[in-house]
Order: sequence, then C-alpha cells, then structure tokens
Amino acid sequence: MHNNTNNKILDTKLNAVSKSIKKSIKNLDSYTHVRGESLYVDDVNIRQGTFHAVVFDSPKGHGIIKNIDYSKARALEGVERIFTYKDVPGKNEIGGIIADEPLFAENEVHFWGMPIALIVAETEFIARKARALIEIDIEELPVIITAKEAKAKGSFINAPRSFSLGDSDKAFNKCDYIFEGETFSNGQEHLYIEAQGAYAEPLENGNIKITSSTQGPTAVQKTVAQVLDVAMHKIEVDVTRLGGGFGGKEDQATPWAVMAALATFHLNQSVKLILNRHDDLRMTGKRHPYESTYKIGLTKDLKILAYQCEFLQNSGAAADLSPAIAERTLFHATNSYYVPNVTTKVLSCKTNLPPNTAFRGFGGPQGMFVIESAIAKAAHHIGVPPRDIQEANLLDENDTFSYGQIAKKVEAKNTWSTAKSVYNIEALERDISEFNNNNSAFKKGLSFMPITFGISFTNTPMNHARALVHIYLDGSVGISTAAVEMGQGVNTKMMQIAANVFSIPIEHIKIETTNTTRVANTSPSAASSTADLNGKATLMACNSLVERLKIVASEILNAQENDLKLKDESVYINDKKSDLTWTELISAAMLRRVALTENAHYATPEIHFDKTKEKGHPFAYHVYGTAITTTTVDCTRGTYEFDSVKIVHDYGKSMSKGIDLGQVEGALIQGIGWMTMEEIAYNKDGRLLSNALSTYKVPDIFSVPKRVEVIPVETDGNEMAILKSKAVGEPPLMYGIGAYFALQNAIKAFNSKYDMKFHAPMTPEKVLMGLYEN
Ligand code: MTE
Ligand code: HPA
Ligand code: MOS
Repeated sequence: MHNNTNNKILDTKLNAVSKSIKKSIKNLDSYTHVRGESLYVDDVNIRQGTFHAVVFDSPKGHGIIKNIDYSKARALEGVERIFTYKDVPGKNEIGGIIADEPLFAENEVHFWGMPIALIVAETEFIARKARALIEIDIEELPVIITAKEAKAKGSFINAPRSFSLGDSDKAFNKCDYIFEGETFSNGQEHLYIEAQGAYAEPLENGNIKITSSTQGPTAVQKTVAQVLDVAMHKIEVDVTRLGGGFGGKEDQATPWAVMAALATFHLNQSVKLILNRHDDLRMTGKRHPYESTYKIGLTKDLKILAYQCEFLQNSGAAADLSPAIAERTLFHATNSYYVPNVTTKVLSCKTNLPPNTAFRGFGGPQGMFVIESAIAKAAHHIGVPPRDIQEANLLDENDTFSYGQIAKKVEAKNTWSTAKSVYNIEALERDISEFNNNNSAFKKGLSFMPITFGISFTNTPMNHARALVHIYLDGSVGISTAAVEMGQGVNTKMMQIAANVFSIPIEHIKIETTNTTRVANTSPSAASSTADLNGKATLMACNSLVERLKIVASEILNAQENDLKLKDESVYINDKKSDLTWTELISAAMLRRVALTENAHYATPEIHFDKTKEKGHPFAYHVYGTAITTTTVDCTRGTYEFDSVKIVHDYGKSMSKGIDLGQVEGALIQGIGWMTMEEIAYNKDGRLLSNALSTYKVPDIFSVPKRVEVIPVETDGNEMAILKSKAVGEPPLMYGIGAYFALQNAIKAFNSKYDMKFHAPMTPEKVLMGLYEN
C-alpha cells in the first residue's frame, strides 16, 4: 500500500518533469535520493548465510613479510576462513595497464594499506575483531614518499613520455624574457559518499554474480576471471548506481569485487565486502601529487614563444592508471594557449604510497597548474597582470596542439571576451583596487582561469559503447548501456534521448542496471565521455527501431514511410495526427513478428593517435571556458572567502541544463577544494596522516564561493557530442585552479615582498606565512 502511494507521487513528479523536459531537466535520480530510496551495493538483498569480509592490510610502508600468525584470528568463533595469495587459483594480479599489482601481497609489502588477506566471518564485527588478532612481522625496507626521491633513486613505473612541437631549445634564444621555476600540486581524496564495496553470490555451475560499486564493470569481470582462472562468461557484474566515483572507482573498485568473488568461489556462499571510511582512505589511491619544473620564454609583446616542462608524477606503488594519466598531463600542459615551441616530459615515479589513480580531470589539472604558475611568475617579474599574458596567447582556430591535433571550433577567445564583457571586468578590477586601497586588514584578489579540455579517452581503442533497447509489448521501453550512473545524471540524459526519438513520456522509459551480461566488453564510465558514447549508441538503437516501426505504420496507414513521424505518442502523416497511437503501433508490430529489440554499437569516428610519434588527433572535440574568481583574505588570520566565481562555459547546446549546471558547480567546488584546502599528508614511513574527516578538510557549504554564476557561451555545439551537448563532467574542475591565483594576488596586495610560491593547496597556514614573510 505504502509503496503504491509512493509510486503515485513519484509518477506525478515524473509527469511534471516530462512536461518541463525541453526547458530544463533535473537529475531524475534526485527523487529517490531525497527519499532515501536509491539503491547502492550496501542495500542489496543479501542471501541467508551471507558472509561478511574485512581486508587485512600492511601496517608498514615497505618491507619483507617475515611471518604472519593467523592462528588467533582463525580460532575466533564465527570466523569462516582467511584467504591469502595462496588461495588464488589463477593469477594473483590485478594491474590493468601494466601487470605490476598483486591482489594480495606475497612476500613483500609496498605501501601502508596494501591488502594482505581477506577475513571472512559471520558478521563484519567478528571479521574486524579477528583482524586485530593477526600478528605480522615485517622486516622494514627504505620507504620512498615523494616523486623527487623516486627520480633520484631511478624508481619508475615505465619509460618516460615526451611531446614536442617546434624547437623549444632554439626558440629560447629569441625570447626577451625567460623564467624558470618549480611547482607542486598535492593529491586529492575522492571522498565519494559511498565507500568501495562489492557483493558476490554463487549461481549454478560455478557462475558468480557480483554487485559492485564500479565505474568499470568489464574491468571487474575481466579481473575476476583472471584471478579465478575462469572464463569471463562465468562472471556477471551488475551496477545499479554509485554514490560518487570521481575516477576513484574506474580501476580501484576492482580489488574488493575480486576478493569477494574469490571468497564466494571457495565457499560457495555469498560474501559482502564493504570498506568502512578508515579502511577506504588508507587502502585506496588518490589524485596524483605532481612535482614539476618549467622554463617559459616570452617576447616583448607577451607571446609565449617557448615552454619546457618536466612533470614528476607520484604514481604510488603500482601503475594502476598512472601511464594514461601521465599522458593526459602532456595533452593539457599548455591549457588554452597556443605555444609554437613546446617540449614536455612526464616521469611516472614509483613510490611507496597506495597506487594513485584517476580523479576528475585525469592528470589534466596537474598539467594546467604548471603553465598557469609559469604565467603568474612571468607576469610578476615583467610587471604586468597575468591576464595580459593569458589573453595574448589564447588558442585560435587552426592552431596546432603539441600533439598534432589542429584546433577547430575554438571557443577560447570567445569565452574569455564574453567573460570580460558580461561580467564587466573593468568595474570588477576597479572595485577590487579601491577596496585594497581602503582596507589594510583585508585584501582582495582576482584571477582569470581559461580552460581547454579534450573529450575522448586518450587511448583511442577505448572510445566505443553499445546500447540494448527493448520496446515491451505495452509500449514501455527498457534501455541497457555501459553507462554507470554516479551522480552525473547520465541515466536521465539517456532517458531524454529515447523519449525524444520515440516521442513518448519519460516515465515510459527505464534505464536498466549496468550489467556485463546485457552489454559486454565496455569501457569504464569515465573521460567525461559516458553520455557521448552511450548516448550515441542509444540514439542509433532507437532510430533503427523507429525505422522498423515506420514500415509497420506505413502498411497500416497506407502511407509513405518518409511522410511518417512519431510525435506525442502517435503517428503523424505529413505533420497531421493519424489515429494510430504508439501503443497500437507496438501491438501491431508484435502481431507482425517485427523485432522490438535493437542493439547498436557506436565508435567515435575520426580520432587516432600514434604513440611512436606522439602525434595524432586523439580528441573528438574540446570543451572551453573562462572563470573569473575573486577572493577576500583576512590578513590578520590568513583565512579567506571566495566572493564570486563568474564563469562563461561552452556547453555546446546543453540537452539537460539543470544537470550540466550541477556538474559545473560541483566540479568547480571540487577544484577549489583541491587547490586551497584538501591536504593529504603521509608521514616519512608512508602512513596516511590525513586518515579521517577530522584531519582531511573538504569544501562544505561554508567554504563554497558566495556567488557562482555560469553563463553558457552560445555556440553551434559539436556534431561529435551527443545532440551537440558537450561533455561536462570533468572540464569545470579546472576553473578551481583560478582560486589559487586569486589568493596569491590578494597576498601580493598585502605584502609586496611576497615571494611567489607554487605549492598547492594554498591553505590558510600558507596564506598567513605568505602575508608576513620577508
Ligand atoms: N558527478 C558526480 N555527481 N559524481 C561523480 O562521481 N564523476 C566525474 C564527473 N562528474 C562524477 C561526477 C568524473 S571523474 C567523470 S569522468 C564524469 O563525471 C563521468 O561521467 P560522464 O562521462 O557521464 O560525464
Ligand atoms: N580519461 C579517463 N579515464 C581513462 C582515460 C582517459 O583519457 N584513459 C583511460 N582511462
Ligand atoms: Mo573520470 S577521472 O575520467 O572517472
């Protein structure tokens, strides 16, 4: 009863939403979110007899395992079994790009938090109690914490990569100004609200079904099969939605799913493994910290003629996605600028931290921070505002990126000049200098942050997706794709696509769970490309069904197929409504034995990249934008507020304005957090110190800017984007980089002797020291 009433309310809401769909659409998940009805892994109906698991992990950063005594843990009442690498029937290996990461440590541990064993018990409480009873003896080895130390010791994940355009060495001879410097940007904790977890259950014939909180169901399926030494068809992975991923579940959702599956494999019983927050913080990797050195050369008229940069990526103890992330750093090293002579190099440095991983922007933000730092430093020494250098070098149509792609439909200058005029930059700057002249205890600072972000997986073969669309005999529709809903609203977008093509209300469409049995061999939901890839496949499948249905309609209505259109749940002939409704058409198609199911495959056309030359056309298109950030610093305390962030963003033609605005706002705040307050700290032994929400500060409602304005720049959109609506998931994070430079300008307004430092995050402590140094 209760549920029926609920569903009626929900239906009414969805009806209202469907009416307003063309105007602005909200994330349809928000209705179940606020009612507490959205399902996550922890909500699965567990079978009777399900076991619960806890991971035993390394209490040291690096060392040889001399002895582990599990006897007391095993003897605890309610403990079923403890699994180690010895229980792995296949390969004890989970590395996705490079095979360098064991599921469970064998003889050596490489980071504090490295999984060693899985304790399976009747309850999670018992498993945790047993974990505390395990005795381990480790002979400690030297620990490498920073990328610089790793470089000095020659500790790398793989060979370095380097992109180059023109001849930067030669070009420096022609420069009027040359500056060199160092930068550091710290890691970042994903802090998805839903921690990592999985639930594995045995099916018949040794098949296993895994419910996982993963962005990459196929990666989980493939890795489970490899570890268990079974064929992939024995493993089914299902994802309802994630309570956030932010890249942290592209690769690093896999080990927990594999462990749960391994226990299920041996015990023939369901096993649930959900990390608690402490375990998750300690055992999982984060955004990569980068230490970088740069050299920038400019002419008198502020043109950047040459740029060289070496990025040291702190990859952690195994490759994970580091090589791909390093590559994207190179792709975005010159951000929104055209630089004719560039040489960039990245070294993935192997350290004794948890393997660092994908995080919104995927190495791009780290690359952009360096060139923005170089520009800020150059501007300071030349004695011009940074924005003069930024503006003088903005990308133009047909400029070449260092990786060989020619820039097309460029909106860098457009978003910049629109921001300047719409937000009245002269008045803004006048107000700020007036404020600064009249106040000594508070100072304001302003910055411009342009962004250019490439859309596509940089690894070309990953850019494909499939959709499986069923029209049921009552005319309702079920859609399966590879897209994983993690809060970004991709499911709503796909419902919009199908609703548009079939011209039926959105409540007649359901997005099914993401499941490897229905849609196989998929790329993860990542690279901001999920809606483009899966949306295009959905569009293709729906269009094919419409073509098929038109043949049926033309027979019934005795009309030409070309004259027919589906509109408002009816068939129209030459824009006039006929008597044939959508549901009647579906029934008629059934009677005629016409297939009401379609499977479509989409692969991004045109893109390619040759790694032997480091040249090609890796991106379907780029997303552009400009943010103007203003801040007020309390010069007694070093604390600060962001007065406003004013953005002009290139959405193309946004298909879901509410969702896309939410993505811009959320990404911006996440970027500001990375640049200003989120401070990951490890001690010299490799133990995570920022291991709780009391020691790791993320932006809350009090630290978000007082005003965030986002204006879309009017463009034609891009054919390669779904319905010309450009990808929006990651690019706006990089607007947050502006926060760092706004703060720096406020410090400069207070302390003219401030020696510019490029060491993010710019925490209040650092601001305070900057205000009073020299
Ligand atoms: N938004 C929410 N709410 N939750 C998330 O986990 N992940 C981000 C971004 N926006 C994320 C998010 C990241 S890292 C990516 S790559 C994209 O969403 C992935 O989704 P998309 O490809 O549909 O944009
Ligand atoms: N972006 C995000 N995730 C990825 C990529 C990428 O370019 N390549 C592989 N995984
Ligand atoms: Mo996003 S870092 O590509 O999952």
